[in-house]
Amino acid sequence: MFDFSKNPNDLGILSQYVAQACCIHLGEEKRYLFEARLGKIIAESGAVDIPDFIRMAKAEATGRLRDKIIDSMTTHETYWFRDTRPWESLENAILPELGKLLQSGKKSRIRILSAACSTGQEPYSIALLLHKLKSSGMLDGVNLSSFEITGFDISPGTLFLASAGRYSQLEISRGLPDYWKTNFFDSTLGNTWTLKPEIRSMVTFKKRNLQDDLSNLGLFDLVLCRNVAIYFKEDFKKDLFNRLAQVILPNGHLMLGGTESLFTHQHLFSSENVSGSFFYKRK
Ligand SMILES: C[S@@+](CC[C@H](N)C(=O)[O-])C[C@H]1O[C@@H](n2cnc3c(N)ncnc32)[C@H](O)[C@@H]1O
Repeated sequence: MFDFSKNPNDLGILSQYVAQACCIHLGEEKRYLFEARLGKIIAESGAVDIPDFIRMAKAEATGRLRDKIIDSMTTHETYWFRDTRPWESLENAILPELGKLLQSGKKSRIRILSAACSTGQEPYSIALLLHKLKSSGMLDGVNLSSFEITGFDISPGTLFLASAGRYSQLEISRGLPDYWKTNFFDSTLGNTWTLKPEIRSMVTFKKRNLQDDLSNLGLFDLVLCRNVAIYFKEDFKKDLFNRLAQVILPNGHLMLGGTESLFTHQHLFSSENVSGSFFYKRK
């Protein structure tokens, strides 16, 4: 385990690197996180000290060390249908409304983005709901391939897991009622459960940093950006929601995490109570 108490500057140097890489600011009070999550990576890198470690991360052409640092310093907590209520609103109101736009021929494609999607439970929860709506007849006449779902995250490790669509016994049990497990997952080696190809193929995963220009992703009817802005400072949050507003179509929806709100952007979004849950609607 790397001993951060030897040089008082080490923590500041690492913390600055992480903040520049992904905008997550971790101060002295998070010393235990650096120790627990980076200790082994620092030891294995062969760096002589922390400035050397950061030099290596910046110089490495493959970006592998940088990715390892980001993978380990970001928090990937996620689960199926997280917070339950807003997912009921998606199922009962927002997704059927989007379906109607396809049924009426007003649109030929609906685009949905899960920004900071972690290991994929969030965008796959959307795909599962669309399947349910289709089998209940709510999306009659609509081909599910007309829904384009994109998930992105900064962490390559989580994206790898998301693309595989394979989950441990614990992950599958978090938030996922048995109905879904029985009908849309195959039991696979190592006591894991793998999403059936028809669900996996509905979601495309990309590596993206929320600091990047998002406009080249195109425009979306629904954007989920949940439980990530809580890690950012106010000025970056403001900038992020300005940029997210640019990729949401007029009347499109933004879904935040259960503890998040967007009072600063009333000129861009109106808040809307959809069957008991708050969504933000692009003006
Ligand atoms: C706590 S998880 C939230 C996952 C999911 N949205 C949910 O609510 O269940 C936060 C995710 O944000 C990602 N993340 C953190 N900083 C990021 C950044 N600057 N750009 C893109 N993704 C980022 C992390 O890698 C992590 O997977």
